[in-house]
Amino acid sequence: MPATAAVPDTVTCRGERFRLYLSEETIQTRIREIGEQIAADYEDVGIPILIGVLNGAFMFTADLMRAIPADSEVDFYKLSSYGEKKVSSGNVTELKDIDAKLEGRHVIVVEDIVDTGLSMKYVIDQIAARNPASLRAATLLRKPDAAKVEVEVDYVGFDIDNLFVIGYGLDYGQLARNLRAIYILDEEG
Ligand code: IMP
Repeated sequence: MPATAAVPDTVTCRGERFRLYLSEETIQTRIREIGEQIAADYEDVGIPILIGVLNGAFMFTADLMRAIPADSEVDFYKLSSYGEKKVSSGNVTELKDIDAKLEGRHVIVVEDIVDTGLSMKYVIDQIAARNPASLRAATLLRKPDAAKVEVEVDYVGFDIDNLFVIGYGLDYGQLARNLRAIYILDEEG
């Protein structure tokens, strides 16, 4: 799909139909709000470092950083993905550690989606053990009905239905990350 093409109402990915759920404008408007909120929250605290969780959060991390009208740093942590499945395996595996030293830093974990919450909890526990000065979490999406562990998230873009979503960094078997909007599995498709 060329960048200038109209955003389609439905897309097909790996033979399954998905319908438009959150438009590009809706996503970007909410990210700007969160960026302003973070700038205000950290104004008297210090320069935060965003830790994007790869691969899914690469797009949100980039847009969130640009939406914060103040200094921030960025680094990345890579966890294993769902592969070609649509449900969480329940196993979280680390594929790439964070390079930055986090001791004494103001860390914000940036996730694409909190589904079961296992990944977010894993990342928070790993980072907490490195003695940051403060630790908060941001996620673009959260599925409250899928939670298996309780995890506190300070900045939530959207609470969504408990259905598989793709686009804006989120994949289905590595595809669909390029979509500018978020699409949800069309159960009737
Ligand atoms: P959790 O550990 O179950 O909370 O899931 C975390 C990771 O699974 C996310 O960072 C995503 O990469 C992936 N994931 C969860 N739900 C979805 C979805 O609906 N679509 C695509 N990826 C998802």
